[in-house]
Amino acid sequence: MDRIRIRGGRRLEGEIPISGAKNAALKLMAASLLTAEPLTLTHVPRLADVRAMAELLRSFGVGVTISLGGSIAEGDTMTLDAGKLTSTFASYDMVRKMRASFQVLGPLLARIGEAKVSLPGGCAIGARPVELHLDALKAMGADVWLEDGYVVTQAPGGLKGAHITFPFVSVGATETALTAATLAKGTTRLSNAAREPEVTDLCHCLTAMGAKIEGIGSGELVIEGVPALHGATHRVMPDRIEAGTYAIAAVIAGGAVELVGAVPEHIAALLTLLEKAGAVVEETPRGLKVAMNGARVQAQDVITAPYPGFPTDLQAQVMALMTVAEGSSVVREKIFENRFMHVPELARMGAQVRIEGDTAFVKGVERLKGAPVMATDLRASVSLVLAGLVAEGETSVGRVYHLDRGFDRLEEKLSKVGADIARIPE
Ligand code: UD1
Repeated sequence: MDRIRIRGGRRLEGEIPISGAKNAALKLMAASLLTAEPLTLTHVPRLADVRAMAELLRSFGVGVTISLGGSIAEGDTMTLDAGKLTSTFASYDMVRKMRASFQVLGPLLARIGEAKVSLPGGCAIGARPVELHLDALKAMGADVWLEDGYVVTQAPGGLKGAHITFPFVSVGATETALTAATLAKGTTRLSNAAREPEVTDLCHCLTAMGAKIEGIGSGELVIEGVPALHGATHRVMPDRIEAGTYAIAAVIAGGAVELVGAVPEHIAALLTLLEKAGAVVEETPRGLKVAMNGARVQAQDVITAPYPGFPTDLQAQVMALMTVAEGSSVVREKIFENRFMHVPELARMGAQVRIEGDTAFVKGVERLKGAPVMATDLRASVSLVLAGLVAEGETSVGRVYHLDRGFDRLEEKLSKVGADIARIPE
């Protein structure tokens, strides 16, 4: 299995193109199941999770063609043709590997009237149950039951509009209800819906496919069901988590990096924090520039929250930054339990972090030291890469497949701006 080797201490200078968002692309791909006509997606990131979703969709009979783009900035183009579906079954093997596979449930049920999808099961970052997804579908008239670890759903007469109030914000449950509602009879109102930009991107794509959605971008979505959706072409939004990660890279390693294609508004909570920590953040015509000129990062507290709050998917990365800050900080994880698995690995590099429940107390140290470390999940693993950029000596990150799931050509992007980083085949 490959490792990523980083030699720390290099300043970063230059530009990094931001790829299409993984968490948008996967749901947009699943939305292709809602129509018999082809859906074309552009600016698709080149990721293991995207390939896994393509494989799952092919197993339903969806024709998937991918044409590789000439540059990272352009991304790949994918056409998905769900004209003839031959199956509505998503196996445990598929869903276990990638939880976002569960997002095929809403579209399959809405268009075909049935689906059998494995329960995601436990996951490295917490229990991650799906009862909100299922409650929403039941409210829309679906029969839902569990059978040998599978969710079986049927709505032979079609789904019906309903008023669904989510007890707390869930990105996935909002997307399940939203996609199902596009083809339901009548009006569906989703209250306390997730406002994450990826949900908004999905709304825009569904609208291009003929869906009638009001309140896009707000916590109150109103969907007027239509009898059928049609084909469309949609550009995947830029990945805000990737942009945020490279913004932190520029700060932790020092230097000045332009994030081409990034949308500053999408990571406003992070940018405010980085400015308070001493970075200079500037909007540019092409995106965003983040610079740090020699000064030591000042410690800042962080609490994760649903959008527009501080994203849980940037918590590990910002903690890596805080480990080398001047002063102490408190990092609270309010979205997922058990999302501090990067802490023991950062400790191997000399970080001083103490965990109490959902809170990490970080005492900044003058310097980290390179070490062999192990990736445990997607965002945790990239926090180790960030720490490696500033650590003295050599860091080697194992279990790189976690990174390949969600970061498009990471070593290429970082080495182009001056990092000493390479993939070492084992
Ligand atoms: C999505 C993102 C993930 C991000 C998360 C929160 C994708 C593929 N993944 O995950 O990267 O970290 O949003 O921004 O887009 N919950 C329940 N019951 C449910 C549904 C959720 O208890 O039925 C809980 C979860 O365990 C979690 C919280 O709600 O504690 C938020 O989860 P949710 O927003 O649904 O996250 P995902 O859609 O799985």
